[in-house]
Amino acid sequence: MKAKVDEDTCIGCGMCADACSAVFEMKGDKAVVKVAVVPPQHEKACLEASEGCPVSAILVE
Ligand code: F3S
Repeated sequence: MKAKVDEDTCIGCGMCADACSAVFEMKGDKAVVKVAVVPPQHEKACLEASEGCPVSAILVE
């Protein structure tokens, strides 16, 4: 599974970094994905972060 943050959409709420710090971190006022591939044990948290993002800026595939 891969995750991507749409920088233009992200409003920097920080929820994703709280929900899944293994995958997301804040860089300034935007979230960035810090892994090329989401580790299997973090997929659930990553999906929850994606679903919880208030502006749906996180794409997972
Ligand atoms: Fe941005 Fe959504 Fe995360 S607004 S900081 S991608 S929860």
